[in-house]
Amino acid sequence: MNGPVAIILAAGQGKRMRSERAKVLHEVRGRPMIRYVVDAARGAGARTIVVVVGYDADSVRAALGDEPDVLFATQAEQLGTGHAVKVCRPLLEGYRGPALVLVGDEPLLRPGPLADLLERQRSEQAACLLGTTVLPDPTGFGRILRDAAGRFLRIVEERDCTPEERALAEVSPSCYVFELPGLWNALDRLDPGNAQGEYYLTDAPALLMAQGEKVAALHLLTADDALGVNTRQHLAQAEAIMQRRINDHWMTEGVTLLDPGSTYIDGRATIGPDTVIHPYTVISGTVRIGSRCRIGPFAHLRDGTVLEDGVEVGAFVEVNRSTLGEGTLARHLAYLGDAVLGKHVNIGATAVTANFDGERKSRTTIGDGARIGAGAVLVAPVTVGERAVVGASAVVLGNHDVAPGQTVVGVPARVVNPRPEPSP
Ligand code: UD1
Ligand code: MG
Repeated sequence: MNGPVAIILAAGQGKRMRSERAKVLHEVRGRPMIRYVVDAARGAGARTIVVVVGYDADSVRAALGDEPDVLFATQAEQLGTGHAVKVCRPLLEGYRGPALVLVGDEPLLRPGPLADLLERQRSEQAACLLGTTVLPDPTGFGRILRDAAGRFLRIVEERDCTPEERALAEVSPSCYVFELPGLWNALDRLDPGNAQGEYYLTDAPALLMAQGEKVAALHLLTADDALGVNTRQHLAQAEAIMQRRINDHWMTEGVTLLDPGSTYIDGRATIGPDTVIHPYTVISGTVRIGSRCRIGPFAHLRDGTVLEDGVEVGAFVEVNRSTLGEGTLARHLAYLGDAVLGKHVNIGATAVTANFDGERKSRTTIGDGARIGAGAVLVAPVTVGERAVVGASAVVLGNHDVAPGQTVVGVPARVVNPRPEPSP
């Protein structure tokens, strides 16, 4: 088994979400939270990732089905976070080395601090290092207890805190590095005699210390890193912070966002410099946007969309799984789905590609320099040739391709220049 390994706990239902779906499948910026945690673990250097599933296990497995380095351990009954780690033992039997242990409900964890934690654990040869943060409002988190000299003593869950302990602001966001196999033995000694009657992972560091092992708590994480999503309110906070991070990144890369607060960009999208994005634009899924594009206001770019350089997509335009060639314009109220548009195409207001016949989605191809009139409907599958013109409100029927240079008008569209001029 390749190390370092990461164990990500994702077996709980997340009762406070009041949802039928497993908590870790709730989405932040269009992606299940668990995927961000997997990315962070991998980004920190984890070579093997074990996700502990339980509640709605099949859906969690399916959500990670395309991750080649992810293995699953099943926790049939959710007896606590310590028990959840324990069920990974058969998979990791024989592995010696560091294990990053994380929870699947912290989508804002960045790989950098986790890599630091791994590095420190290695250089200090610690049995356990835990990352901590300090929060203005620590409600809900396990508190970090230290002695007068500042040395870590133990973690106390909020429900088990005395009033003095509850006032402590340093918390454990459940980011640990444990050395294996030493952890297994500590897990065997967990005692569920706490307010929730669960096997708490939070007790493991103190148990290791009691055995004379080296354990330390390092304030390496920010409040954002530590945002654990336990409620819908937390989910909205995570969404807002993720949005800010993504938008800041693209502004740093040279993209103008006129109103970052109302601009929603998926973490998988890429955007070229000097592109200007107007308010109320939603970019969801894997979308590639070139340089010098102008997008919005009120544009929706969906998964699989590619805008080459200099494209304009204006107000109330939706583009879905489509490619728009360089300099192509769709400035007002249009739908482009499953379409491939060449360069310098003009799409008139309210023109649409009718890509779905109720059963099947089909493709529309539009050649360079073609002009699609206002209100035109192109029924897919169909091809409109280079420099062809589709008149306003024309309906081009499926499989009735428009030849290069041809002009068609009417419903259904008929040709009005039977012998188009040859290309210059
Ligand atoms: C846990 C920690 C707390 C920490 C907080 C950080 C414990 C006992 N408490 O509390 O110290 O401050 O996270 O966010 O560890 N899970 C399982 N199996 C179980 C129980 C939980 O896989 O039997 C998973 C959940 O799916 C979740 C994660 O562990 O992804 C944390 O569980 P949650 O119930 O959110 O714990 P917190 O109350 O947040
Ligand atoms: Mg939690």
